[in-house]
Amino acid sequence: MFDQAATRPLPMIDPYGRSIDYLRVSVTDRCDFRCVYCMSENMAFLPKKDLLTLEELDRLCSAFIGKGVRKLRLTGGEPLVRKDVMTLFRSLSRHLDHGTLDELTLTTNGSQLARHAADLAACGIRRINVSLDTLDTAKFREITRWGDLDAVVKGIDAALAAGIHVKINAVALRGVNEAEIEDLVAWAHGKGMDISFIEVMPLGDIEPSRLDQYLPLSLLRARLGERWTLTESPHRTGGPARYVDVAETGGRVGFITPMTHNFCESCNRVRITCTGTLYMCLGQDDAADLRAPLRASESNDLLSEAIDRAIARKPKGHDFVIDRRTRQPAVSRHMSMTGG
Ligand code: GTP
Ligand code: 5AD
Ligand code: SF4
Repeated sequence: MFDQAATRPLPMIDPYGRSIDYLRVSVTDRCDFRCVYCMSENMAFLPKKDLLTLEELDRLCSAFIGKGVRKLRLTGGEPLVRKDVMTLFRSLSRHLDHGTLDELTLTTNGSQLARHAADLAACGIRRINVSLDTLDTAKFREITRWGDLDAVVKGIDAALAAGIHVKINAVALRGVNEAEIEDLVAWAHGKGMDISFIEVMPLGDIEPSRLDQYLPLSLLRARLGERWTLTESPHRTGGPARYVDVAETGGRVGFITPMTHNFCESCNRVRITCTGTLYMCLGQDDAADLRAPLRASESNDLLSEAIDRAIARKPKGHDFVIDRRTRQPAVSRHMSMTGG
């Protein structure tokens, strides 16, 4: 359906009246890190033959853009470990040139960013999110199991040098990076980057207990308020973070609080996996296979109908619980399948 005046597709509307104009695409479930809150040490990944090709991913994304999606984020796993992923960025950037897409972006762990930063900027990527939970080399290795902090910091610097705005995402981990929160904020703001903190969510089985990891952000915010002057910010990016301005640093701190404050009422997004499965909610199991309709014909009619049927059953929200009685994660898949 088209808005005649603006000749742009009208956004898809879900059963709760929410406009769905944001698509997150996990281009691979693989990652070169094994963050302790995200993955178990021995992960079984999908066989490569099950993945959609880059051409199929492009077609799928383009179909969503044709249905009113204005913001596209590539995620993973780690999106930059997918072979030739820059080809996909390059081809998708045509939608920015045509004005049919407002933003093409990615969420990355930064490990491969140094070599891709200039190409990403050339593809019209203006803003990226980099996950980084600590500035302590040994702790970084402990949290990511395999990661090298130095490479990530070099990647961030390369992105900044290429003129890309970087937002840091840090998962708040009790007793792990808790004492470092102020340092992380000061470091990020010193480089002109916003930073968001995220509450741990119960997604997929991992060895450590999420109850031990979980740190409610209300505590963290109170702590930051003792050191700095925080005021609520009207700044919105289309994501779930709610921001405060820090008067002394001139930067912003975001809070992503799926556990203590549910933001589902303003949800504007759906996500697809690298096998073409559409998840209508990060925290629910219901999903729709888009690979079969994608491959069934060259026209997008079947695909478009499958997307409409799925959006019509987008759930109201997630049912995350982290407590002593709840042993099972809310959903069995890990974040790396759906990319947040
Ligand atoms: P911005 O465009 O910068 O606002 O990005 P964003 O917050 O949409 O994306 P980002 O990749 O920075 O997401 C940060 C984290 O927020 C994700 O990794 C998830 O942990 C969480 N998140 C994003 N979307 C959802 C959602 O729909 N539900 C829940 N529960 N968490 C989400
Ligand atoms: N809970 C909260 N955040 C998570 N991430 C990965 N797994 C979880 C989880 N279980 C974060 C990563 C990254 C983003 C994609 O999701 O740190 O910032
Ligand atoms: Fe990889 Fe991101 Fe998961 Fe860490 S949180 S293991 S970087 S996908």
